[in-house]
Amino acid sequence: MEDIVGLCKRRGFIFASSEIYGGYNGFYDYGPLGVELRNNIKQAWWRDFVHRRDDIEGLDSSIIMHPKIWKASGHVDGFSDPLADCKESKKRYRADQLFIAPVILDGELCGYVGFVEGADAPTIVKRAKKLRDSLDKKQATLDEEALATQHTEFTDATEEQRAQTLAPEATAVGTLTAPRAFKLMFETKVGPLADDSAVAYLRPETAQGIFANYKNIVDTGRVKIPFGIAQIGKAFRNEITPRNFIFRSREFEQMEIEYFIAPEADWKALHRDWIDQCTNWLVSIGLSPEGITEDIHPTEKLAFYSQATTDLMYQFPHGEQELWGIACRSDYDLKQHQQHSGKSMEIFDEASKSKYVPHVIEPSLGVDRTLLAVLTAAYTEDEVPNDKGKVEKRTVMKFSPKIAPVKAAIFPLLKNKPELVEVAEKLYKKLQRRWNVFYDASGAIGRRYRRQDEIGTPYGITIDFDTIEKDGTVTLRDRDTCEQRRVTEAELIDFLEEQIDG
Ligand code: GAP
Repeated sequence: MEDIVGLCKRRGFIFASSEIYGGYNGFYDYGPLGVELRNNIKQAWWRDFVHRRDDIEGLDSSIIMHPKIWKASGHVDGFSDPLADCKESKKRYRADQLFIAPVILDGELCGYVGFVEGADAPTIVKRAKKLRDSLDKKQATLDEEALATQHTEFTDATEEQRAQTLAPEATAVGTLTAPRAFKLMFETKVGPLADDSAVAYLRPETAQGIFANYKNIVDTGRVKIPFGIAQIGKAFRNEITPRNFIFRSREFEQMEIEYFIAPEADWKALHRDWIDQCTNWLVSIGLSPEGITEDIHPTEKLAFYSQATTDLMYQFPHGEQELWGIACRSDYDLKQHQQHSGKSMEIFDEASKSKYVPHVIEPSLGVDRTLLAVLTAAYTEDEVPNDKGKVEKRTVMKFSPKIAPVKAAIFPLLKNKPELVEVAEKLYKKLQRRWNVFYDASGAIGRRYRRQDEIGTPYGITIDFDTIEKDGTVTLRDRDTCEQRRVTEAELIDFLEEQIDG
C-alpha cells in the first residue's frame, strides 16, 4: 500500500484533501492523472452497462433530496455502525471491525487483547505480552495458539469480557465502552430556517435517487420489465474509521444499478447472471480473475428485506475486502416509497398483462474502491535493460489500455532536429483529437519511456530518422514487454483504436 500511495502522490494521481492544512481524514483529491483514470473507469462502466445495452437507462439525481426519502428508505432510523470508544486513548473504533483474543497464561484465562481487523499476528502477540507484563506474570507461558485462533467480534463480547480487554492503544484493561449505534449520514440544513424542520442529509448512497425517480422513468420512457436504471454519483458517509487510503472514505462515488424484475421471475438465476456480468466487467478493466472471490452473505446476517447478497471481494494490499455488492432487495424500497409518498409504484407488464410493484437486483460498486483495485492490479516492479543494455529496476503500472490515463506518448528521437520534431508534433496533434496522449521531447529516450511506464502509458511512439528518411513508419513500443516494432501511421491508428476503444 505504501508504494501505491507514494506513487499516487509523486506522479499526481491522488492527494490527501486539504494537504496544506495537514490533510482531512477520509477525504481525497484526484490530481491530473487520477482524474483521467477515474473518468475512464466511469466511462467504461457507463458504456458497458448503459450505452451498450437496450435494457438500462441512465439517471443523474440530486445529492440532497427530500428528507422523507431517507425516512422511507430506513436510513434515518437504521443507517448506523456500532461504535466503541476507548476512554483512555480517546480512539474510536467500529465495533464490528474490532476483535478480542484471549490471553491464556500457564493455562489460565487472564484477560483479552483488542485488535482492529487486519492486525497481524506479531502485533497481537506483542499486545498480549504487554498485558502479561502488566499482570506481573513475565515468566508465564502465553498460549499463542488461542491468541491466533479464538477471535470474537467486539459487538459479541460480554460485559465481563469487555471489562478484561486491553484496547489496541490503551495501557490498562477495561477502557472500551459498550458498542452503541453511530449514525453515518451527514446532516445539513436547507433554507433560511435553522430549526429541525430544515434538517436534510447528504445522500449515503445513490440508489435512493433511482427509486425516487423510478416512476418518472416508467412514465416517460418506454421501459418494459426487466429493465434497469443506472447512476454514477457522489455519496457521503461519516465513517467512524476511514482508512486504507481511498478504500473507505467519507466522500466517495458509487456506480449503482437497480434492475427491476417481475415478482415471479427466477431471481436466483438473474442474481447469478449479474454476479457473472460484474466479475467479467472487472476482468475487462484489468483485474485478474484469481484476485476476485465471492462472499455469499449467510441468510441469518441478511437484512430482513433482502433475499440474497453476494459481494465480489478483491485482494487489496490490506487484505481481501468487498469491492462490489450485488443484492436482491425484493420490492422493499419501492413499497416503502409507495407507502410514504402515497404514489403507486406499480408497473403494467404487457407480457403478463398484470400490474405489480417490481422486485429489484442491485449491483452497487464504488468508483474509488475500483480505482484502488485497478492501482493494486497494475502496480508492478520488474527489471528491463536500459539504453546501454544494462538491466535496471523499473516501476510499471500495467493499466489496461481501455482505462489508462494516458493512452500513448509521442517522442521525437532528438529534440534539436526540427524535421523529427515537426513530424512528431503533427502526429501528436492528430492523435490528441481522439485520445489523451502525451508529447515528450526532452531527455534520453530510455528515460522518457521509464517516465511513461511509471504512469502506465501503454504505448510509446518514436519518430526517428527512418520515419523521415525512409518509409514514414514509426516505432511502436509496448509498455509491458518493451518490444518495439515499426508500423505505418494507418496501422498505428487501427491498432490504438482496437486496444483503447475495442
Ligand atoms: N445501495 C447499496 C449500497 O450502498 P454498500 O455495500 O453500502 O451498498 C456499495 O455500498 C459499494 O459502495 C461498496 O461495495 C463499495 O464499493 C462502495 N463503498 C461503500 N462505502 C464506501 C466508503 N466509505 N468508501 C468508499 N467506497 C465505499
